[in-house]
Amino acid sequence: MKYYISCDSAAVSIGANETADALARHAGADAVVRTGSRGFYWLEPLIEIEHDGARIGFGPVEAAEVPDLLAAIESGDFESHPRYVGDIDTLLRDQGQCRLTFARCGVIAPTDWEAYVAHGGSAGLRAALENSGQAIVDAVKESGLRGRGGAGFPTGIKWQTVHDQPATPKYIICNADEGDSGTFADRMIMEGDPFTLLEGMAIAGVAVGAEHGYIYLRSEYPDAERALERAIEVAREQGMLGADVLGSGKAFDIEVRVGAGAYICGEETSLLESLEGKRGLVRFKPPLPAIQGFMGRPTVINNVISLSTVPAIMAQGAASYHDFGINKSRGTLTIQLCGNVARPGLYEMPFGVTLDHLINDIGGGSVSGRPVRTAQIGGPLGAYVPASHFDTPLGYEELAEKNAMIGHGGVVVFDDTVDMAQQARFAMEFCDIESCGKCTPCRVGSVRAQEVIDRIIEARDTDADITLLRELCDTMINGSLCAHGGMAPYPVLSALNHFPQDFGVAEPAET
Ligand code: NAI
Ligand code: SF4
Repeated sequence: MKYYISCDSAAVSIGANETADALARHAGADAVVRTGSRGFYWLEPLIEIEHDGARIGFGPVEAAEVPDLLAAIESGDFESHPRYVGDIDTLLRDQGQCRLTFARCGVIAPTDWEAYVAHGGSAGLRAALENSGQAIVDAVKESGLRGRGGAGFPTGIKWQTVHDQPATPKYIICNADEGDSGTFADRMIMEGDPFTLLEGMAIAGVAVGAEHGYIYLRSEYPDAERALERAIEVAREQGMLGADVLGSGKAFDIEVRVGAGAYICGEETSLLESLEGKRGLVRFKPPLPAIQGFMGRPTVINNVISLSTVPAIMAQGAASYHDFGINKSRGTLTIQLCGNVARPGLYEMPFGVTLDHLINDIGGGSVSGRPVRTAQIGGPLGAYVPASHFDTPLGYEELAEKNAMIGHGGVVVFDDTVDMAQQARFAMEFCDIESCGKCTPCRVGSVRAQEVIDRIIEARDTDADITLLRELCDTMINGSLCAHGGMAPYPVLSALNHFPQDFGVAEPAET
């Protein structure tokens, strides 16, 4: 009997190592397989066993509960055990999940090459290697994949621009500087199924004619760094990386570079500056990185999830990926649900699920038991969507119609005790602390905005200050050089428009 338990850092933070140690003591070290996480964070530490061809879960299991659980499993009478969860695949299906990008995460040991291949790994790269670069680019275009870092730019069109550049060398850069509050999908896949990211980068390299890739990783992810370094070593041994990728005669290799803790280095041009050894300051665009990026050369910069999705597209076909989703939002979205919610975790769902279904049905509502008032979507620069708009389907354009955005797929839930004026102040404080300082609307505007919100909270001259705050937000949106200063007003304006009473304003909410 094998016992599968996650080594994901979120699971470890709530006792997965202690539970795994207890399993090893009672069942033997060889019986324990450390995997990535399924993303059911409310069930961690989650133990899985194989039974009748299915993976059966038990969770959350503390170390002290292990002997009793093992006795129940050995007796065969485990369905009545209080920690019994049932068939994991059935649970995923019942939630409406569709694991394309995260198919192997939580199933296999992260750097076990044989398990990776046995579960479909490397098939996408093998398929890509049988095609021309242009055919690969066309497939990514046909799939409808859009950048999962936040902007939602079509990945295939980005690749086409780099593919068409005559200059060499070209580079593939993975933006793994996952800095948004409430997001962890990048970390989860890097810790739990790192070969998938390497495979996606290799496919990108073959598609555009690049032989070298960098993963720019945030310094706060030491476990991901270890997993990636080990995976790169194994991938080189197995021929997925190196001078002769899977015997194709094509070369592609990857290095990891760790950032130094600046949020703004998640913006692609300051990432490039940092990667080149300079201070993380935002560059003017144009030129686009696709034309003059790393060291002035054509560069694909994609988020971890965008790249990690490409192997499934190549293996299963562009059309099968495109079949999922709604309108211009195709495929699956890796939603990271957290905050004040009963069942936080990672949910890979086809685009189109409504916030109401996600938060109240799947997420179980608030953990506090109080009514859910709002959810912030798309990180600290994302809008607060009020519960009255929870019928909105998750899609790029559908959310944009409500002045909100998907961003990197983070959904942070708040109950009715939240003070939206304080949340608005927090957005501007965050903008101030993380500003690169290059342009005035962001560097100075975020400080002035905090002062104005403080005056509103103290109710000194609410009407005049609210007009001033709106004007300041308008200046930041239209005058900032990058999305950092340009988007910080969105949480502020959404709070002001949907929850005016928290700012001492009696006016009806704008939508
Ligand atoms: P953008 O709209 O300027 O560009 C999107 C991407 O498309 C960039 O990579 C750009 O270089 C590329 N691009 C545009 N036209 C192109 C063309 N013709 N050919 C090839 N490539 C082309 O957006 P930006 O400023 O890069 O990102 C803003 C987004 O970042 C925001 O929407 C926000 O959601 C997100 N964001 C994500 C964070 C995270 O931690 N993941 C943090 C902060 C913001
Ligand atoms: Fe730097 Fe802020 Fe200007 Fe962006 S908006 S360039 S982070 S100062």
